[in-house]
Amino acid sequence: MHIKSYGCQMNKLDTALVRSALLDAGFALTESVDDADIVLLNTCSVREHAEQRVLSHLGHLKHIKESRSDLVVGVIGCMAQRLGGKLLEDKTVDIVCGPAQIPQITELAIKALQQKQKCLAITQKIREKSEIQSQALEGFESAYSSPAFGREIRKSKFENRNFGVGQAYIRVMRGCDKFCSYCIVPYVRGPEVSRPPEAIIEQIKKLADAGVKQVTLLGQRVNAYKYKNGDKTYCLADLLELASKVDGIEWIRFVTSYPTEDFFDEILRAMADLPKVCNYLHLPAQSGSDKILRAMNRHYTAGQYLELIDRARSFVPDIVIAGDFIVGFPGETEEDFRATVDLVKKARYKNCFIFKYSPRPTTIADKRLQDNVPTDIKKRRNIELLSVQEHISDELSRGFLGKEVKVLVEGLSKKPYKDSQECEDAPQLTGRMATDWIVVFNGPQLLAGQCVKVKITKTSPFTLFGKLSK
Ligand code: SAH
Ligand code: SF4
Ligand code: F3S
Repeated sequence: MHIKSYGCQMNKLDTALVRSALLDAGFALTESVDDADIVLLNTCSVREHAEQRVLSHLGHLKHIKESRSDLVVGVIGCMAQRLGGKLLEDKTVDIVCGPAQIPQITELAIKALQQKQKCLAITQKIREKSEIQSQALEGFESAYSSPAFGREIRKSKFENRNFGVGQAYIRVMRGCDKFCSYCIVPYVRGPEVSRPPEAIIEQIKKLADAGVKQVTLLGQRVNAYKYKNGDKTYCLADLLELASKVDGIEWIRFVTSYPTEDFFDEILRAMADLPKVCNYLHLPAQSGSDKILRAMNRHYTAGQYLELIDRARSFVPDIVIAGDFIVGFPGETEEDFRATVDLVKKARYKNCFIFKYSPRPTTIADKRLQDNVPTDIKKRRNIELLSVQEHISDELSRGFLGKEVKVLVEGLSKKPYKDSQECEDAPQLTGRMATDWIVVFNGPQLLAGQCVKVKITKTSPFTLFGKLSK
């Protein structure tokens, strides 16, 4: 089996779940497509580009299939849900499986391999809450801490490439009800459902036993986590407190937060009071123009957003904030874009993910608004915003020079950084600080999954370089 992830952290987590289920069922992983009898692509629909990458991979697989007709190809995840049966019109594709159907993946894989049958498993009425689907997902998700997954956590090889050693993602919520006008997620992931706190904590305990040091709690709008149990309603702050009590876990993160009042102060208080909760907040703003924010159906103004950031900094003075922006949304004028630049300058993010608007079928923005910002202007705005952010990141990163920081080692760095000053025999490793800053240094590979101290000797806007403290 060979499996590749094309999407967000949710998608990577699903990949890990699928891999763990198939390993438990006796499948073996292969590093290359050439050795695999089944190839699964876990896909994303959030931008057209994400889908194009999958289509081009399918083109490549079509080629391979010409000489190996028994190769089974599955498209799973958000694009499978969006395109459904249309994907099966391509002779290359044997399995189409939506995010809510991944509990059936082993069955589908066996059916396609042994009976040479094409399989389609998606949700027909995606916005309807389905208890059965929810229970199936819950059961499947809990098996996440299966022996196969435990083994995987300890590996630094290709099997665990998605997370980094010693880390795991845990979903606390599924779906999204926000319907930002540009976004496909509510149409491919369905309605918001929060998972039971005891199931989440049980999972964290098992992961800690398997050697996990850092857990990242995932939700499209994680600050809206809410689970009613008898008289008590659990919110994200409660989960953070419960997770903090799990021995062995050192760091707890959560992404992504939606900039509204939803339990905001409680979460910030938990961050301030609980040492294991990382002082890191991913709080996408999307735009700095109130007019565009309204058209995006985001329920806040730029002013309210900045107030939230101020409040976050007053609760947790050394909090580090990351953002997301979309440039070239329909109707975005130069003046609107200037407002975004202004917001980025005021917010002083550690880093920002900046995307060019991509119209997505079925979304309100695609139905009602014309994609009227020309591609070259989108590109120019993207480059300009990146450079504004790079300047800020550069200033912030310089503040670390000469300081000793705590780093959770993720593993070997994927690309060798020329900037690293150390030219020792030890390999180049990367890791992250609790605040998500990336740190590169030389050290023995066996440190992967451990926390170490690194003295910062050099900086670049998005990466810190240093020397392992003895
Ligand atoms: N739930 C998260 C992230 C969802 S998708 C949140 O609400 O923040 C991740 C990012 O992709 C979004 O924050 C947004 O910046 C971007 N994005 C979503 N739809 C897009 C589209 N149609 N075009 C360009 N970027 C988009
Ligand atoms: Fe998409 Fe908005 Fe939901 Fe995020 S909050 S997943 S951007 S609809
Ligand atoms: Fe994630 Fe992409 Fe789906 S961002 S939720 S994989 S559409």
